Amino acid sequence: MVASIVVGLQWGDEGKGKVVDYYAKDADVVVRFNGGANAGHTVIVGGKVHKFHLMPSGVLAGKRVMMGSGMVIDPETLLKEIELAKGASPNFSLLIDGKAHVVTPYHKLLDGASDKLKGKFGAGTTKRGIGPAYADKADRIGLRMCDLVGLDAFDERAKFLEEVKKKTASIYNLNADEIQNFTETYRNYGEQLKPYVGDVVYALNDFLKKKQKVLFEGAQGALLDVDHGVYPYTTSSNVTAGAVCTSCGVPAKRIKRVLGVVKAYTSRVGAGPLVSEIEGELADKIREKGKEYGTTTGRPRRIGWLDLVATRYTAMINGADHLCITKLDTLGGLDSIKVCKAYKLDGKRTKQHPQSASALARCKPVYEEFAGWPDLSGEEWRAVAEKGYDALHENCKCYVEHIAKKCKAKLAMVSVGPGREDTILLKNLF
Ligand code: GDP
Ligand code: IMO
Ligand code: MG
Repeated sequence: MVASIVVGLQWGDEGKGKVVDYYAKDADVVVRFNGGANAGHTVIVGGKVHKFHLMPSGVLAGKRVMMGSGMVIDPETLLKEIELAKGASPNFSLLIDGKAHVVTPYHKLLDGASDKLKGKFGAGTTKRGIGPAYADKADRIGLRMCDLVGLDAFDERAKFLEEVKKKTASIYNLNADEIQNFTETYRNYGEQLKPYVGDVVYALNDFLKKKQKVLFEGAQGALLDVDHGVYPYTTSSNVTAGAVCTSCGVPAKRIKRVLGVVKAYTSRVGAGPLVSEIEGELADKIREKGKEYGTTTGRPRRIGWLDLVATRYTAMINGADHLCITKLDTLGGLDSIKVCKAYKLDGKRTKQHPQSASALARCKPVYEEFAGWPDLSGEEWRAVAEKGYDALHENCKCYVEHIAKKCKAKLAMVSVGPGREDTILLKNLF
């Protein structure tokens, strides 16, 4: 059993990219298993900022990387990221599963149009074509990477899809001629991507048999999971640890550890109820200090206190036995820090996360308060990280230990800044 998984336990942007980059040094291969270019994972190495949408973050640690069949891949974005990765990693090696689906220009067009049409039920998507691409997959009319690189069949399928999409355009208030012809461009993408497409399932099972270490990198956060998140304000894929098995054909019994990444507070890009949301001056202060602007879309992220009702629930559904708590530095300097420990739903107190978005919207937060810790400079936090866990302020330790206890998980990592060096490691994943 040498497969471990890193997943987000909130609404995405918890710092998964940084955490995966850190743990990747102990892995043989790093694998993305869900989502597409809706993800934006930031990795900072030696002061240089890298933002990946599709490429697994382990690439900067010089590791072999793979993309599982549960992903929806935008070839244009991927080709750009391959160039960046080649520049950053001399031994660059990528394998994309042929069964992964392809995002086309009409998916992106329909994504924007459909989210607009949904009005208040729209999730405020990233417009990266994610929902329409997964819808085509479920409808069994999607194009897959194996189609894209198997050029003959591709032309016929692409033409057929173009016709189908032209017929459905009016549903979304679009003209049929807005559906562009993409066959020629995509043939070219297919030729360029051919060397990277193969069978991730056989490759991974072979690695695991040889006891090589596989690190799975989740995208999004569990509250965006299409089954278990705040539906319909979710993404369109399963983002929780279980998706590793379905996406990559890896048996559940192979999974050794699941590490959940939790930001010390809440952030959310997009629409939907957020029980512990805070607005006004304090939210602005945290947003600016934490640079809470979407990595993919640049949108300002909504801000809230840590919601432990939601995080306990997501730790449970992921089986997150270990936690990494990030961005503790961002909360530095506050006198007191609130944590939502229960909800009041229609006058009744509950610690259970409700199933429906409308029930969640009626929930009021019940807070407990923790004493804050000092505001340190980047250098000071780095010095704390270098000294290790005991150098953290007592109030900060009390905060992270409380979160881990409530989530029934062990602390594996604490992050006090965006760089690799701003990290306190308590437990290895392998
Ligand atoms: P992901 O989608 O989960 O990979 O997270 P993003 O990269 O979208 O957003 C996390 C942001 O926080 C990035 O800009 C990271 O560089 C940054 N970050 C990660 N950990 C820390 C931390 O402990 N402190 C601070 N200040 N920034 C962090
Ligand atoms: P990472 O991997 C934060 C949100 C969108 C929107 C909803 C649906 O960087 O944590 P979609 O484009 O997926 O159909 O949008 O999900 N969303 C994310 N929010 N981080 C992400 O990824 C996200 N991926 C999707 O803002 O509300
Ligand atoms: Mg992100």
